[in-house]
Amino acid sequence: MCGIFGITGTVTDAADNVFVGLKNLEYRGYDSWGVALRSHEGIEITKQVGKISDGELATSLAHEAVGHSRWATHGGVTLENSHPHRVGNVVVVHNGIFENYLEYKTKLEDTIEFKSETDSEVIAALIYLELQKGVSPEEALTTAVQNIEGRFAILVMFDDTPGIWAVRRGSPLILGRGDEQTFIASDIPAFLEKTNVVNYLDDNQMAYLYNTDVDFWDLHTGEKITKRNIEVEWDFESADKGEHPHFMIKEILEQKETIARAINQERDQVDEFIKALKKAGGIYIIGCGTAHKAAMATEYFFAQIAGKKVNVVAASEMDAFKTFVRANTAIVCISQSGETADIMEVVEYAESVDATVLSITNVASSSLARASKVALPVKVGPEKAVASTKATTGQMTIGFLLAHAYADTFNKGLGILLGAAANINDMINPRYEEHIESVAQEFKDNENLFIIGRGSLYPMALEAAIKIQEVSYIHAQGFAAGELKHGPIALIEKGTPCIVLGDDQETISNAIELKSRGAVIIGISTGEHEVFDHWLRVPDAEMAQPLVSVIPIQILAYHFALLRGHDPDMPRNLAKSVTVK
Ligand code: AGP
Repeated sequence: MCGIFGITGTVTDAADNVFVGLKNLEYRGYDSWGVALRSHEGIEITKQVGKISDGELATSLAHEAVGHSRWATHGGVTLENSHPHRVGNVVVVHNGIFENYLEYKTKLEDTIEFKSETDSEVIAALIYLELQKGVSPEEALTTAVQNIEGRFAILVMFDDTPGIWAVRRGSPLILGRGDEQTFIASDIPAFLEKTNVVNYLDDNQMAYLYNTDVDFWDLHTGEKITKRNIEVEWDFESADKGEHPHFMIKEILEQKETIARAINQERDQVDEFIKALKKAGGIYIIGCGTAHKAAMATEYFFAQIAGKKVNVVAASEMDAFKTFVRANTAIVCISQSGETADIMEVVEYAESVDATVLSITNVASSSLARASKVALPVKVGPEKAVASTKATTGQMTIGFLLAHAYADTFNKGLGILLGAAANINDMINPRYEEHIESVAQEFKDNENLFIIGRGSLYPMALEAAIKIQEVSYIHAQGFAAGELKHGPIALIEKGTPCIVLGDDQETISNAIELKSRGAVIIGISTGEHEVFDHWLRVPDAEMAQPLVSVIPIQILAYHFALLRGHDPDMPRNLAKSVTVK
């Protein structure tokens, strides 16, 4: 969480470009923002509480600037807690968590007058105190960051030394190489309009940017290293909202094409992935939030299509299962961003025991993709809305394809998916959206909503709940259809809206049980049924049904958010990329 962005160069629009580029990192946190620029008078800092997209930065000429868009971890959403933080001649922007910061803050309180409640200001203080010993900036940084426990990325400016210093451990930092400027950011969209030539900073590496020159060091050995220039494939156009009011609806509608894009995998990569799975003594599929629900759907695909049991665990819960992860274990990580801290911790553990890391990720350049033996790209283009939509269906597409590849029925799987992709293209049209909007209108003031599904639609009931919760703030809860009568049915009152996924006989029986207790039933299925008070038709996608059934719920969640007056792209308390534990 938090986006950081820095620019050095031979031209003087660094601050303006940081301000503009930082808006493309706003999905990482939007509590407050700030920019530090180097002028003739020294380093000038501007900060504001609120979204950077609502902010303004007075134009100033500068060759160098750093910026920050904050997702508050330590300390409330205040100007004092906003970045950049200055201690003496040191200015820092920070993404990540300094887990043991209190130990140092307490020790230093007599020496440093701290102005914020943040862990980040303590990093600035540690660097400042090292500098006081008369060492060089790189020595001060190297020593100071040794004290930090946790995952982080920092950019540092010094009043008396030109250039920007960057250190990475656990949180992403990518350099962009332009002709007149060098960029360093938490994510590529910050500078994608300017260049697509990048260098990846790896963990425990430091960079020094000055004009268009960059030096890299390994923090462990202290030695200089060289980096290969890599061209990334994303174009700037696809990271833009275009004619749509929000990224969320743009990304939902893009599913007309993105399933087909996700299907289009390199066959030899899929074969290598399957070979690793077949060789493994045990398979874990991990993910967080929505990606965890895509993992659960993949578990059903493997069971139903390939007759193979895989273990699905939320990445944040893997600690209890670590003892089962050994050199012959395959860990399949599903992640849109490829930067989620809970996943990267498991990856680091897997690496330490020589387990095989495989991944399904939308960001082909992410830390996860780079750490994987085989990384299958989801290929749906940048997903900017906090609520995952097109990446989810893309991930499930690949999960489905893998299950068929495992069962040696790859072409059959391909055929089903191509059929689903064509049907989704027909399903998503303005009339369909209007119908869903009218359903949202009827239930927008309800504070509770339940969703049930059976088999591979059960994970979609859980996913539906996340989607509705995160953008509309309605208390939505998903259940396995057959579990209701074991407790949750007590929650049903007259008028409680319940979404029923599927129209198989057993699920319909559960819907009837709900209705006889007063529930209003919204059916999402291929066929209509009299128990449904409202019906959202979805095409028949055979075993790939979760892919199509989740889409009307995404549209419903979007309209709930609008009707309740919320910004669906930037819901409260959330950030797109969760890079803290
Ligand atoms: C999705 O709608 C959520 N905002 C969230 O659950 C997300 O899926 C989760 O944080 C995992 O992110 P990742 O896919 O980037 O790893």
